[in-house]
Amino acid sequence: MSNSTVVSDEMRDRLIAAACAARPRAYAPYSRFTVGAALLADDGQVYTGVNVENASYGLTVCAERNAIGAMALAGGRRVLAVAVCTENGVTPCGACRQVLSEFAPHEGDVPVWIVDGPGAVRETTLAALLPDDFGARHLK
Ligand code: THU
Repeated sequence: MSNSTVVSDEMRDRLIAAACAARPRAYAPYSRFTVGAALLADDGQVYTGVNVENASYGLTVCAERNAIGAMALAGGRRVLAVAVCTENGVTPCGACRQVLSEFAPHEGDVPVWIVDGPGAVRETTLAALLPDDFGARHLK
């Protein structure tokens, strides 16, 4: 049984296509591991990001966090769904889970579609990826 926000199959496919279309634009000369991410925001728009590496390795920014930056710049403040595309279908790193959760509604859950190079898709949720999250509500 799924507990995630209802997102149409059409929108799911759009998010997945956007993440996979973005991925070749990753700047990953050091790891050669390219990542594309796409977010559906509450303004109905899809925002994308890729990982951008740096010769000073620790300055690398992941695809998911760059997509959050694109959303925030456009005024979006809520993530309704996420797609991440990599060669081997890995899930977002811990830092990205935390940053995504900052903008995820707590009353529902956010579907996350994980896609690999050949196009295989599996669905999870942000709550499954980051249970017992720390958020703004803990600071009030
Ligand atoms: N990377 C992402 O873009 N997202 C993640 O969730 C995991 C890792 C990037 C960072 C780095 O450029 C490359 O993948 C290898 O770690």
